[in-house]
Amino acid sequence: MPERARPPDPQIRTLAQLKAATMACRECPIGEIATQSVIGEGLLKPRLMLVGEQPGDQEDLQGHPFIGPAGKLLARALEAAQIPREQTFVSNAVKHFKFELRGKRRIHKSPTQREIAACHHWLEDEIALVRPAGLVALGASAARSLLGRAVPVLANRGQWLPRPDGLEVLVTLHPSALLRGDPEQREPAFEAFVADLRQAQRLFGR
Ligand code: URA
Repeated sequence: MPERARPPDPQIRTLAQLKAATMACRECPIGEIATQSVIGEGLLKPRLMLVGEQPGDQEDLQGHPFIGPAGKLLARALEAAQIPREQTFVSNAVKHFKFELRGKRRIHKSPTQREIAACHHWLEDEIALVRPAGLVALGASAARSLLGRAVPVLANRGQWLPRPDGLEVLVTLHPSALLRGDPEQREPAFEAFVADLRQAQRLFGR
């Protein structure tokens, strides 16, 4: 968990207030180009809060996290791991969609370390509101934001890593990595992803 760029904002006592504050955020350049901010959704005080990288094209347009192709794959994996999505809270390390235009298509661009760091205080405000028992980092950007350092995902996948505040973070791949991977390896890669999620289920129950 990195040093907070800013202390917790006492004005942010609800998710609606977090949404409004992130909508207005221009602490990095992404806020200017995105349609809107996308904060997390789900159960408060869940056993698990899952954190991805940033909203994608669909999420940016509709304002909900993980509803596009990566979200559908995540939903399928959660179901296979017997973790009801509605009993979790699903969010992202970065609250705005970063993209570049290719013709009319908006192509996802990974956030820089600076952009992840700029958004970090919003993620910590969100964690403080949601109060999960454990965290799942979906990919390297989420792991970096939640743990405050670069975490090699493949070397740490399926493992719980502690934060100074006592919360533990289960590290796994981002579902987009599975979508981009070798089609021949898609099924075993999906099974390995489900096995990581089962670790979360085992430790934190239903
Ligand atoms: N990828 C993410 O990391 N988050 C989303 O909400 C959608 C795609």
